[in-house]
Amino acid sequence: MLLIQQATLKDLSTLLYLAQETFREKWTPIDGKELVEGYIQQNMQISHFQNSLQNPDISFWIAFWQDKPCGYLKIVRNAIPNNYTHLGKSFLQIEKLYLFAFAQRLKIGSELMKIALQVAQNENFDVIWLGVWSKNEQAIRFYEKFGFQKISNWIFVMGDKICEDEWMMAKVLPN
Ligand SMILES: CC(C)(COP(=O)(O)OP(=O)(O)OC[C@H]1O[C@@H](n2cnc3c(N)ncnc32)[C@H](O)[C@@H]1OP(=O)(O)O)[C@@H](O)C(=O)NCCC(=O)NCCS
Repeated sequence: MLLIQQATLKDLSTLLYLAQETFREKWTPIDGKELVEGYIQQNMQISHFQNSLQNPDISFWIAFWQDKPCGYLKIVRNAIPNNYTHLGKSFLQIEKLYLFAFAQRLKIGSELMKIALQVAQNENFDVIWLGVWSKNEQAIRFYEKFGFQKISNWIFVMGDKICEDEWMMAKVLPN
């Protein structure tokens, strides 16, 4: 059974666990331990989540599958990518959407995506966007299914590595 709940400070340890472990599971086989651990050290410590959970522009949802935490969604309001103001005035970023492998392809990602789209609609955002590695085909197929399109190339910094083979994908929302 699937349960999704919005995270609060009492979920700090679950969120930290999910963020670090889903990131390790996904990227260590591709990018190697050193880069992944460097990124986690710089961006995924308890203080980052404490601060984010208290920032009104940031929200997290946690998914539980058969009572096990299995993935999470992080959205950031008003994170406006440079030079894309022609797409709209207000931007909502899906900054992280990660499930453990054991929970993939069960429509849990779809449920988390629906939450992000609902927030975008309720709060009248013009554009919802995200960055994705251009070779992450499963994620790209998933985003395309929800109407996201590649807008441009993108850069993601993982430790000392500047990943230039990233895409920015976006969906312009109806008013
Ligand atoms: C990408 C991700 C969030 C998708 O969530 P999910 O719950 O596995 O996907 P869903 O079951 O909701 O799939 C919805 C649709 O997306 C597409 N899709 C999802 N996974 C896919 C895959 N591996 N290959 C091809 N299409 C896929 C399909 O169209 C699917 O519909 P279908 O099952 O009816 O064919 C999830 O797989 C994930 O967390 N992956 C690892 C972390 C990651 O890469 N996150 C994105 C970083 S940018």
